Amino acid sequence: MKTNIYFDNACTSYPKPTSVPEAMANYITSLGSNINRGCYDVAYKTEELVFETRELLKDLFNGEDSRNVVFTKNVTESLNFIIKGLLKPGDHVLVSSMEHNAVMRPLVQLSENNITFDRIPCHEDGSMDTSAIIPLIRPNTKAIIMLHASNVCGTLLPIKDVGQLCSKYKLLFILDCAQTAGVFDIDMVDMNIDALCFTGHKSLMGPQGIGGFILKSHMINKLNPLISGGTGSISHTEFIPEFMPDRFEAGTPNIPGILGLNASLKWIRDKGISNIKEHELSLTGHMLEELIQLESSTDKIKLIGRRNIESRVGVISITTTDDELSNIAYELEQEYGILTRVGLHCAPSAHKTLNTFPTGTIRFSFGPDNTHDEVDFVAKSLKTLLTR
Ligand SMILES: Cc1ncc(COP(=O)(O)O)c(C=O)c1O
Repeated sequence: MKTNIYFDNACTSYPKPTSVPEAMANYITSLGSNINRGCYDVAYKTEELVFETRELLKDLFNGEDSRNVVFTKNVTESLNFIIKGLLKPGDHVLVSSMEHNAVMRPLVQLSENNITFDRIPCHEDGSMDTSAIIPLIRPNTKAIIMLHASNVCGTLLPIKDVGQLCSKYKLLFILDCAQTAGVFDIDMVDMNIDALCFTGHKSLMGPQGIGGFILKSHMINKLNPLISGGTGSISHTEFIPEFMPDRFEAGTPNIPGILGLNASLKWIRDKGISNIKEHELSLTGHMLEELIQLESSTDKIKLIGRRNIESRVGVISITTTDDELSNIAYELEQEYGILTRVGLHCAPSAHKTLNTFPTGTIRFSFGPDNTHDEVDFVAKSLKTLLTR
């Protein structure tokens, strides 16, 4: 029987640290209480753990205040909260040309309300020059909304420079760190990030269904809450609480998800971000070398994006010259148990930038559990498939 080799961590990370399902099961079987509602010991214990998770997130991203950590179900919901809560008719924003549809679809939806956007053009390897931003700034430009790393080709965008530029031109800076949280250092103060949107189930190693955003305090009153309802607080009034996080969190949260994320954040803290990064970049470098060799010996694949580990994350895309991409991805799985992702990865704008639209790419993405032996096996299998 073939054993699966999981190279689809950019989609969702697998396997999770064992402490993640343990924490979730422990909550369901031994605590089980809601938060902000019950005055009994297990409710207080659950509240403490949820609070601790906000603290872990605040510390990871150098947020201002753990009360400004708001839980959602994923980064898509977080971006919708920020984009739709912040922008008003007449506003203009800038995005990179590498964005995921989690940013593009809300913006296209809002364009019906006279909210406009421009794409900052990126190079064919997915990289960006910040000098391309300045000519696009208009008097009504309110914010730059941008991902930290491409989920298609792994290229990092220069977020520290963009943060400085936002500060100089008085623009808000909203970051989608779906592909970098927990692997790359992200500092909301140092990088001048006003709202940071994260998802729990990718490089943060938590379960699906939990994500969130972290606000600088000056953002709180700039955002209209997208949802409202019971919070367990100030129940005498039908008005939305003004304090955090209740201003943006209504209804019962995903407590098993939050506590699973609590466990994965502790796992990341104990393992050390720099060690995780070093491991993933080492696998990336190895895979890039194998692919570059294959590219020159067979002429049948084309590596997309940057060709070395500088300014990139552990996400690699290829196209092929004479076979259907989906056939190759299918055969990699059926014959060798190698799990990849094929297609457009919810990012048509990025593929247009990379010149891989509408065909798409096969994507290999690494996580903490992958090994160099797996990279060797994948390279060998790919070579066999392409040369037979
Ligand atoms: C850069 C980026 N943004 C947003 C998303 C959406 O993530 P989620 O499905 O967790 O909301 C992804 C997932 O692929 C992504 O890679």
